Amino acid sequence: MRGSEEILTANETQGYELFKEHCASCHFGPALGGLSFEKMGRAQNYFEQRGGALTEADNGRFNVTKLEKDRHQFKVPTLRNVELTYPYFHDGSVATLEDAVKIMARVQRDKNLSKDEIDKIVAFLKTLTGEYQGKSVSLLQEKDFQ
Ligand code: HEC
Repeated sequence: MRGSEEILTANETQGYELFKEHCASCHFGPALGGLSFEKMGRAQNYFEQRGGALTEADNGRFNVTKLEKDRHQFKVPTLRNVELTYPYFHDGSVATLEDAVKIMARVQRDKNLSKDEIDKIVAFLKTLTGEYQGKSVSLLQEKDFQ
């Protein structure tokens, strides 16, 4: 993110360009999120598309502030290590990163991304998997943190 050009492959770089175009207005900052609240379903009705009854958790920030304007607002989550933090969204309703990216583009931006665009964004998101004590966190087990 500081501009080093050799770190990402061509595919990942294209994913980053797409990410900047479609996602970075909300997922910004060093952790790619965590700095603001946004409505889940800003461009299209997420809850209708998901189906099922509305739950108390679906109210989001409204549960804390009791202000109508905060209904369905959630903290924009960080995308660091997002490859490993499935299932996605506050309701855990989405199992794969591909589906999470596709749904985000649709409900937040009113945009149908192609499979190629989704794959590139996912390739970029996978570069956000970090290391702890020299090991990829995807290889770590609970005992490594004790
Ligand atoms: C209008 C603001 C906004 C935009 C634009 C946006 N997001 Fe999000 N994103 C959110 C919010 C808010 C959530 C939390 C939703 C929830 O928990 O129900 C979220 C959740 C996610 C998650 C799930 C993270 C987790 O740990 O559960 C992923 C992955 C994600 N966004 C990726 C993207 C991608 C990729 C794009 C671009 C295609 C994008 N987002 C565009 C606001 C946005």
